[in-house]
Amino acid sequence: METKISNICCIGAGYVGGPTMSVIALKCPNIKINVVDSNENKIDAWNGDLEKLPVYEPGLSEIVKKVRNNNLFFSKDIPSSIENAQIIFVAVNTPTKKTGKGKGMAADLKYVINCAKDIAKYSKTDKIVVEKSTLPVRTAEKIKQILREENKDVNFEILSNPEFLAEGTAINDLFKSDRVLIGGENTDTGTNAINQLVKIYSRWIPREKILTTNVWTSELAKLASNAMLAQRISSINSFSALCEKSGANVFELSKAIGMDKRIGPHFLNASVGFGGSCFKKDILNLVYLSKHYGLTEVAEFWLQVLKINDYQKNRFANKIIEALNDKNDKLVGMLGWSFKENTNDSRESASIYVAKILLENNINLKIYDPLVEKSSIISDLKNKNTSNISNLYISSSVTEAIESADLVAIMINSDEFKNINSDALIFDGRGANQYSTYTIGKS
Ligand code: NAD
Ligand code: UGA
Repeated sequence: METKISNICCIGAGYVGGPTMSVIALKCPNIKINVVDSNENKIDAWNGDLEKLPVYEPGLSEIVKKVRNNNLFFSKDIPSSIENAQIIFVAVNTPTKKTGKGKGMAADLKYVINCAKDIAKYSKTDKIVVEKSTLPVRTAEKIKQILREENKDVNFEILSNPEFLAEGTAINDLFKSDRVLIGGENTDTGTNAINQLVKIYSRWIPREKILTTNVWTSELAKLASNAMLAQRISSINSFSALCEKSGANVFELSKAIGMDKRIGPHFLNASVGFGGSCFKKDILNLVYLSKHYGLTEVAEFWLQVLKINDYQKNRFANKIIEALNDKNDKLVGMLGWSFKENTNDSRESASIYVAKILLENNINLKIYDPLVEKSSIISDLKNKNTSNISNLYISSSVTEAIESADLVAIMINSDEFKNINSDALIFDGRGANQYSTYTIGKS
């Protein structure tokens, strides 16, 4: 018999856990949701000033204002949040492993495994455990094994429900998802668990957009989606280099090929290179998995997407270095530090790589970003062991960042950077300023 879901717990209050649970809380006012995190400062921030939530997303603070402390709670009490929940979402980070087997490639599952241990420890009643994090194929088996070994009194059903939101548009993506994917086991209890989750999403997602599959298909579909999206960016970026040499224009090229319905216009914007916490790590994970299954050619194919991405970032930095070759005291104003517009997230941002190369070539830098904290900019560079950090100044406005600069580098597609008024050379990594001296993909 189906039980009515009235209590959900989400472990992980990050870029996925925070926005996703806020939207579920808004759409399901009769379900109580506790979002927990091992980082207590983050929970304090979610409970604090609406202008300073840990995640910046257009529209998010308005939703949090409506649901917080009504049916959405950011809580430090992990044990009772788990114990009271019927469904537990696991939305913790799954970064690339830094040590051990698969180092530099495989996803590090230690945070997910810790969650499974906590769930086993604090559960007294049956639970549906939902993998929201992006995980390698067949992780659900591992989670199930831990849960069953460590708690024999409770039945756990594991579902895969990967998240497809993009940062900067997360709320819209969650309201109007292209699809919701739910993978579960083909057993009576598995089907029952799938149906419970389908019911929740059906409150606002049309039923035909909710796709149910087996667990492994769902896990792989997430990696495959990100790989396909990143592949399109590397494809157009590879053409941007060819355009510059041959005299074609990558913006016109992108439009021309994107008008073919079979290709489509999305994810065909040439850029300094894709960033963000997921594309690189998920492709590395895919490469690792392919190698694991002995599929060398498949692994090489996907690795090439990352190689072109590195090539593009280096190409942009080297263009800047060449342009400033004959100047003595070189100053670059860099606009944009996040990995894309409308987010405060700078993980794997192309700006970090370009800034490191410039600083290490004795170029002084002034950086401006409307959303990223100064301390994050410094720690991003320190984490990449950047030398000459003292040649860096963090500006608080576009005007300040471009003042006296020899060259202005536009890194993201923010409206604020569209009409730059400066006598400096303007290098545009995203084609926002049509009067720039150098624009990626234009000769
Ligand atoms: P994040 O780093 O922003 O948040 C993860 C949170 O989990 C952190 O706050 C961390 O403190 C917490 N955490 C880790 N281990 C914990 C534990 N054992 N108990 C309690 N809390 C714990 O990560 P994110 O960007 O939200 O990504 C989460 C997952 O979702 C990843 O697998 C990612 O690949 C995937 N994903 C991310 C996005 C995105 O846009 N960021 C989109 C789709 C999918
Ligand atoms: C991406 C996917 O779009 C989401 O579906 C997925 O859920 C998410 O990864 C994830 O798994 O984390 P996200 O990284 O937040 O979302 O943002 P995107 O809009 O995909 O942009 C990624 C990078 O690609 C950015 O640096 C962006 O500037 C760049 N990009 C995007 C281009 O260079 N060209 C384009 O045409 C599009």
